[in-house]
Amino acid sequence: MSKALIIAICNQKGGCAKTTTAIETGACLAASGARVLLIDKDHQGNLTEAMGFVEEEAAGTYELLMGRARLEEVVRESSIENLYFVPATIDLSAAESELMGLIGREQQLRHALAGSLDKYDYIILDNPPSLGVIVINSLAAADYVIIPVQVFRFARKGLDRIITFFDLVQKRLNPDLKDWMVLPTMVDYRRRDEEKVNRLREQLGDKVFKSQIHVNSSVIESQEAGKPVVLFDKHGVGAKQYRSFALEMAQWIKAGQSVG
Ligand SMILES: Nc1ncnc2c1ncn2[C@@H]1O[C@H](COP(=O)(O)OP(=O)(O)OP(=O)(O)O)[C@@H](O)[C@H]1O
Ligand SMILES: [Mg+2]
Repeated sequence: MSKALIIAICNQKGGCAKTTTAIETGACLAASGARVLLIDKDHQGNLTEAMGFVEEEAAGTYELLMGRARLEEVVRESSIENLYFVPATIDLSAAESELMGLIGREQQLRHALAGSLDKYDYIILDNPPSLGVIVINSLAAADYVIIPVQVFRFARKGLDRIITFFDLVQKRLNPDLKDWMVLPTMVDYRRRDEEKVNRLREQLGDKVFKSQIHVNSSVIESQEAGKPVVLFDKHGVGAKQYRSFALEMAQWIKAGQSVG
């Protein structure tokens, strides 16, 4: 039985398509036959809402992080075959401060997932726009990190902070953390974002995926309809771009795994 690969989607900047990327990538991988678990680590619960989940009192990521529930107790089936999720409710907002009192607080998620890695092919962690202890928990559990960057609002300083975090977690908490890559998101031709993408690629070279995601009205429409765009408008640009990203990501991970 193979071990799930854990992918953390991180950027402390808000609104750069972390949640959208988690859901679309998860849906693409699930459609290819992989068993995929999405974990909503954001108390805003945007991923949870997108899964159509509305129970406010339900156990979810908070209980998992605090060691009060086992993974199998908080996993839900989505309406999409092979796609599962752990919901986040508003009580997750207390986790940041409550974790501070726990010994081994940075490793809570890693421990919570450890016994269930054979049940999934991929576990995708959708993170809040911060670099606090909840995100450190994600990095401490992850194998790979994807950083969605809205090129229009790209700031080198912000990216450098995440990379410093990555390096520290890799050295001190999680030697299994292998690599990170940037995904350009919400690229808008009308704003001449293509030039900005080129500049990003000049600066970061092969740390930027070849795939990029454009601003696309069908992504917004699909979210209003409560479906991933890869299922809502299969032949549209948004779906094609997320499919090609998911493929490129899977190849990147495969190459990383074979290196060791
Ligand atoms: N390709 C796209 N085209 C158009 N709109 C998009 C696209 N991707 C995401 N959006 C919209 O941008 C907004 C932010 O996206 P999303 O919630 O995925 O970002 P986020 O990084 O998870 O935000 P937060 O930091 O608040 O968690 C949402 O309203 C979403 O519908
Ligand atoms: Mg989000």
